[in-house]
Amino acid sequence: MQKPAPTHHPIHDLLRHRWSPRAFSDKPVSPNVLRSLFEAARWAPSSNNEQPWAFLVATRDDPENHAKMLSTLVEFNQNWAKHAHVLAIAVSEMAFARTGKPNRNAFYDTGAAVAHLSVEATSRGLFVHQMAGFEPHKAVELFGIPDGWEPIAAFVIGHPGDPASLPDTLREREIGPRERKPLSSFVMSSGWGKSAPFVKD
Ligand SMILES: Cc1cc2nc3c(=O)[nH]c(=O)nc-3n(C[C@H](O)[C@H](O)[C@H](O)COP(=O)(O)O)c2cc1C
Repeated sequence: MQKPAPTHHPIHDLLRHRWSPRAFSDKPVSPNVLRSLFEAARWAPSSNNEQPWAFLVATRDDPENHAKMLSTLVEFNQNWAKHAHVLAIAVSEMAFARTGKPNRNAFYDTGAAVAHLSVEATSRGLFVHQMAGFEPHKAVELFGIPDGWEPIAAFVIGHPGDPASLPDTLREREIGPRERKPLSSFVMSSGWGKSAPFVKD
């Protein structure tokens, strides 16, 4: 299903067509494509080029690992995320490797890496749906994530599925409108709350 953003101003088609579906088909994502998606993440910018991210990835080709990762999601997310071929957890290193000083941009940089991956996925007809609804402590325990690294978000990658396969409430959300705050509410200039002059809506 396509759900292009109803933008107020023109943006690149890839960004317009990226969205977060919950209906996924179980069609596999090839290792070649997976390599390209994580290559896109690899080339994200980061503070001091620290690249403070790591990814745990499980595909349905490895049912044991996939089930283990699925068990870290809250039940709401498990119900739809289980159908996607790929499940992943984004992890951040919370201090600079060289100095040990806290890296206050680690979450920010990891989010940028996942954004890169999402756009690359869109360019290949795939979709990414990120999830805060998972249990970080369980992920640490089950996957041996070391001290100093924090699981930030889980996400699925997969081919789009049929919204009719979803339970009623999720189907309504799936086909419902996409909404965003207006630019004027968050693009400011001379002071907090003062919209930038180039912003009209
Ligand atoms: C960090 C993050 C956490 C999210 N957590 C969840 C989640 O736990 N469950 C879920 O169904 N969607 C989750 N979402 C998806 C958002 O609800 C979705 O991105 C937002 O509604 C905007 O929709 P769009 O991505 O289709 O434009 C999350 C998205 C992000 C970026």
